Amino acid sequence: MSKNTTIFFCSSCGNEFPKWSGQCPACKSWNTLVQADSFLKNSKTGRSHSSSKPVTTLSPTKALKEEGKHSFPTTITEFDRVLGPGITNGGVYLMAGQPGIGKSTLLTQLACQLGVTPRTVIPTKNIIGSSSEVGRIVFYACSEENPAQVANRIKRLSNKPNNHIELINSSEVEAIIKATTKAKNNKPALLIIDSIQSVYSASNATTPGSMSQIRDSANILIRNAKEADIPTVIVGHVTKQGTLAGPKLLEHMVDVVLDFTGDRQHELRLLKSVKNRFGPTDETGIFQMTGQGLIEVSDPSKLLLTNTSQNQPGSSLALVMEGTRPITIEIQALVTSTPIPIPRRIANGIATNKLQLITAILSKHLKLKLADKDVYVNITGGYKVTDPAADLAIALSIISSAKNKPLPPGTIAFGEVGLLSEIRPIAFLDKRIKEAKNLGYKNIISPAKFAKLSAINL
Ligand code: TYD
Ligand code: MG
Repeated sequence: MSKNTTIFFCSSCGNEFPKWSGQCPACKSWNTLVQADSFLKNSKTGRSHSSSKPVTTLSPTKALKEEGKHSFPTTITEFDRVLGPGITNGGVYLMAGQPGIGKSTLLTQLACQLGVTPRTVIPTKNIIGSSSEVGRIVFYACSEENPAQVANRIKRLSNKPNNHIELINSSEVEAIIKATTKAKNNKPALLIIDSIQSVYSASNATTPGSMSQIRDSANILIRNAKEADIPTVIVGHVTKQGTLAGPKLLEHMVDVVLDFTGDRQHELRLLKSVKNRFGPTDETGIFQMTGQGLIEVSDPSKLLLTNTSQNQPGSSLALVMEGTRPITIEIQALVTSTPIPIPRRIANGIATNKLQLITAILSKHLKLKLADKDVYVNITGGYKVTDPAADLAIALSIISSAKNKPLPPGTIAFGEVGLLSEIRPIAFLDKRIKEAKNLGYKNIISPAKFAKLSAINL
């Protein structure tokens, strides 16, 4: 008996169903189910397709040797800091970030940079003879913008000739891959897909951006990266809630997930690796968005501090860790009387829950009268705090504003505040103290000195 391969796709969400119905059972959209009879027969992603390449086996030592040959630095220091060994051939990188944050800008700069710097292969310890110098062609599949827009950006960001960049004017993944084979004797150094939400596979009947389309297109690109040994960067937009627009599965499929974050109203941009099969995940690359593109920031504290507000009631400084680097941030609090029965707790740069928690601790344990007060907290420079060590400085800025008394000059604070108002130890305590001393702060408030909030004399 022949196998029935009839499948219905929802053109809105991309889910597959064996039967047609007027309303998609998954996303509840009407009249979106379409038949894709021949999908499985023609599918290039199906299991019936087998690679024509002969299978090779290799010993772990040889595999390590191969690996050693395969990484090259981007020479953008902040980028390399996050990647670890640089870009690994055959590796698939997902660059996730909100629309407009600067993903295309960063990748354009990366593409330009790979042309101007000599390709050196990172020598791995104990591995001899790693010198497979390959060409420098960078393919940029501009499915989201047109090639002229990308070319304009390249011109704006780099005044050097960029003949090594080839723009691919297609949104079909099969055509994009075919275009990369043009560079036969000069193996591409990188393939950039901008973005996964706007490409499609000819073997999938759903619209670009649908779940199944993203999954299938990514599958084809990943297989190509591994088989042709071309590192591939895939851009993926995230929603306002911070989740990747597309299947979560994508994050499991790729080798490295890079998160590019920041506040569009500010210049600061952070690059972090959420997952990294080739290197560390605890480093952060720091950039500043300028009219001339992204520039690397070696001293982020400078970008985040305002000289005018320090030593005023409500302002405090904290030393937080961004990756393995300590940076100084300024926290501002405003405590004002409110006529409304449920006072406002408005936080910018920290989680609202955290602010509610700290105000509750201050009310209960320090008897600070906040029940009839609005409390606003802001981190200057558009920085978003995730380090719990900022708790103490947040608490101090609220106390300072509530009492209308500035903190003593030269004060910096770091420590986690517990529910019982205890000051809890934090990671990298010694490193932070050393850094604070180096920066010239005289009044260092930390768990090394105080065990309870009430012990701090302000
Ligand atoms: P873009 O890289 O297109 O964002 P994404 O690819 O993540 O959607 O960057 C968009 C913003 O960056 C846009 O608002 C303009 C700004 N920008 C600069 O400020 N300076 C520059 O040199 C460039 C190229 C862009
Ligand atoms: Mg873009």
